[in-house]
Order: sequence, then C-alpha cells, then structure tokens
Amino acid sequence: MIIVIDGPSGAGKSTLAKKLAKELGIAYFDTGAMYRSVCWYLMEKKVSLSDAKQIKESLKNFTFELRKEVGEFRFFVNNKDVSNLIRASEIDKNVSQVAAYPFIRESLVHLQEEFSQTEGGAIFEGRDMGTVVFPNAELKFFLVADPKVRAMRRYEQLKELYPNATYDLKEIEKSIIKRDEYDSNRTCSPLKKAQDAHLIDASDRSINAILQIMRTFVEEQRA
Ligand code: DC
Repeated sequence: MIIVIDGPSGAGKSTLAKKLAKELGIAYFDTGAMYRSVCWYLMEKKVSLSDAKQIKESLKNFTFELRKEVGEFRFFVNNKDVSNLIRASEIDKNVSQVAAYPFIRESLVHLQEEFSQTEGGAIFEGRDMGTVVFPNAELKFFLVADPKVRAMRRYEQLKELYPNATYDLKEIEKSIIKRDEYDSNRTCSPLKKAQDAHLIDASDRSINAILQIMRTFVEEQRA
C-alpha cells in the first residue's frame, strides 16, 4: 500500500509518517530531505542558486543515498552523512528555490518512484506526492497547521539540533510563511491538496490524536 502525506513545512508530516510506518511495518520516505540534500550540496559548492546552467553542471557529480542505520534512514550526499546539516536554517531559506527547478524535480521523482517498489508498500511525505508523484496512492492525507504552531515546532527542533545558537520565533514564522507561498505558487508541482486527500488540521491536535485518525483510514482502506 502506498500512503502519502502532503502539506506545508512544520505541520508534523515527518513525525506522523515515521510513527505510522513503524506501526504498519512499512518503509517511510521523507522527500523534503532529498530537496534539502540537493540544496546543501549546491550551497556547499557555492553554486549560484539562480544559475540553472551552473546547477546542472554541478549536479553531474551529485550522488544521493539512503542508508538505514539503527532503524533510521540517514541521508548521504557523495558518501557524506548530511542528515543533520540539511536541517540548518540556511537550507530552510534556500531550499524552495532549488525545489522549483523542473529538472531537479524530475530526477528526484525518478528516485521516489524507485523507492515505491519497496516490498510491502511505503509512506511518502512531501508536497506533490498525492497530486503528481503518486496520484494513484491508496491513501492520501493533507496535513495543515497554523503557521504559529509550525514556527514553534521548528524553533524547538532547531534548539534541539543546535542548542548554542539563538533563534527568533517571529523570523522563523515569517520564513515558514514565505516558503509556503513559494512552494504553493511555483509552476511545477506546487504544494496542493489532492482532491481525494483527507484534510487534517494539526493545529490543536496531538500527534497521537492525528495518528488515531490516520489509523482509522488505514483500517477502512484495508477492509
Ligand atoms: O518538508 P521539508 O520542509 O523538509 O521540505 C523542504 C523543501 O522541499 C520545501 O521548501 C518544499 C520542497 N519539497 C518539494 O518541493 N516537494 C516535495 N515532495 C518535498 C519537499
């Protein structure tokens, strides 16, 4: 069974996808991490993110790999573990620009389709999973949450990852709203709810409460 969870950043997609995948004993793929990995690589190589030609040239030497370590997927770019590096706020600021390039999307979608061959099915979370990549997925969710709630989650995540840095909650909220706009208004595969996706508002619901809703839909689908 292919299950997709789309929605804006910070709505809790990753946490939910991970938990639900564990319960169902199937794989889970965070497709945002793929776009983040490309962004990290280009920034590391000091490539101008507005220069498509330079980006294409630079990506000829890009390799991306998922490795399962201690029950968890880690992301590797050219053999370097970038799993934490791709969560930095510099990546937050620039990743939408990278994700808007159709040629980048095309190659990552190709990888996502390969991952979907995983035996037993998988859960994919992202922006265009239900609309473009897996339009025939058996179960689709679209998770939303108030930007204030999402900014707070992101703030807590950043504090945990980089405890010595200081963060401005208001700035995080602004950056989240800007990213939503960018991701929703791009021409290629914008962030959009699939018509047949179940809309869940995570603003005032606990992770467990949302999991329960998802479980009910999974059971319904299985029956
Ligand atoms: O989910 P996230 O915040 O880690 O996603 C990072 C960026 O990647 C986000 O700005 C939108 C983009 N993205 C996308 O365009 N398509 C996807 N399937 C997943 C993420």
